[in-house]
Amino acid sequence: MTVHFIGAGPGAPDLLTLRGRDIIASCPVCLYAGSLVPEAILDHCPNGATIINTAPMNLDQIMGEIQTAHEAGHDVARLHSGDLSVWSAMGEQMRRLREMGIPVSVTPGVPSFAAAAASLGAELTLPGLAQSVVLTRTPGRASSMPEGETLTNFAATGATLAIHLSIQNIDRVVADLSPAYGAECPVAVVFRASWPDERIIRGTLGDIAGKLDDGITRTALILVGPALAGEGFDESCLYAVDYDRRYRPQTADSPWASWTPESENG
Ligand SMILES: C[S@@+](CC[C@H](N)C(=O)[O-])C[C@H]1O[C@@H](n2cnc3c(N)ncnc32)[C@H](O)[C@@H]1O
Repeated sequence: MTVHFIGAGPGAPDLLTLRGRDIIASCPVCLYAGSLVPEAILDHCPNGATIINTAPMNLDQIMGEIQTAHEAGHDVARLHSGDLSVWSAMGEQMRRLREMGIPVSVTPGVPSFAAAAASLGAELTLPGLAQSVVLTRTPGRASSMPEGETLTNFAATGATLAIHLSIQNIDRVVADLSPAYGAECPVAVVFRASWPDERIIRGTLGDIAGKLDDGITRTALILVGPALAGEGFDESCLYAVDYDRRYRPQTADSPWASWTPESENG
């Protein structure tokens, strides 16, 4: 018996990996975080599967359901929104499962920041503007932030920031970021990226708060940084006409002239 953690993606039911779909189809028990996992994904569960929404449950209750499945020898598909590597609560469940001696597997999912960037048609790392993306949040009712992980500190890098779980703190976000990025810095808020009711609000640090309405709550990402402008950046060397590289040696003297994949692999 194994508990299979599966990233269910950002919302659109077809933004699920084939591996995730196949594992769901093979598990007689499915536990899903109902606040964000789209119900259409549950259609992949086999007939007669036990399907439980864990949104109203606490950790002990969730572990109780897994223990019951374990005793019956039933594999469990454990679905969380987006990818499991960020804000999924997988870590605390895995710790308990290790103590219980229950094996696990992890299948990644499309994270919401990637879905939001896709909706914007944006590359978040544009040469000359930003080469790093910071996935972060502001403190919430249930979660404080480790000292040092402040928006002000991240702003000092000039990187593209993908700020989760923070739309209710937009005024604070703007206040913390404006000194470093400036009021003209582009911002995009993507609400429910990839869901049918997705909305995109573009603005600047100076005006974004005034552009949001009461409909933009909870499931929204705030993307901030010069790369959001989508202009004023350099072309990468990778595809430059005269760039000497192993796949495109420019002269007979190039160190890559005699390179083949086989020569590298010995
Ligand atoms: C508990 S976290 C889950 C993050 C998830 N594990 C991921 O990989 O994106 C929930 C937050 O992620 C962001 N989020 C999740 N799904 C989203 C979506 N479809 N569109 C915009 N933001 C989303 C929001 O900031 C939301 O408050």
